[in-house]
Amino acid sequence: MKRAIVPGTFDPITEGHLDIIRRTAQLFDSVLVAVAASPTKGASGPLFSLEERVELVRSSIAEFSNVEVKPFDGLLVKFAQDEDATVVVKGLRVVTDFEYEFQMAAMNYTLDTTLETMFIMSSPKYMYLSSSIVRELARLGGPYRNFVPECVYEALKKKYE
Ligand code: PNS
Repeated sequence: MKRAIVPGTFDPITEGHLDIIRRTAQLFDSVLVAVAASPTKGASGPLFSLEERVELVRSSIAEFSNVEVKPFDGLLVKFAQDEDATVVVKGLRVVTDFEYEFQMAAMNYTLDTTLETMFIMSSPKYMYLSSSIVRELARLGGPYRNFVPECVYEALKKKYE
């Protein structure tokens, strides 16, 4: 059985993330969405707590029978080993993603040569979509309904009410 891990901060999960998860689920028997604690991400840490981010992912992946979600804190390679995942799948959007992702993939390979990293190109319509842009739109009252699942839309509305 081939098990893939799709890691990220998911603050919050967007339609771009879901596109990558959906396509990964078609390629692997089992997919684990790994939500990183990422306490140092952003100026004052993530907008949503780890529990909130996991719950938003859980609601968003309900339709996929071979996808599950778990939180993790610490090294991704260690978590992948504990979870019997042999492939890390990440989405690649614009060229600016590449350097950071290349560095991560190289370090993860150095730490564990049995864990492969694979990249899936983002669908063109999600090429410029990111959690931070969605947060910004929500904060400033811009339109973001089409970029996130319904549950995330409601959660963002509540945060910025
Ligand atoms: O959605 P993001 O913020 O781009 O995801 C980045 C993430 C969480 C996948 C990455 O920061 C990560 O793997 N963090 C866990 C710690 C780790 O293993 N770091 C790499 C080796 S130092």
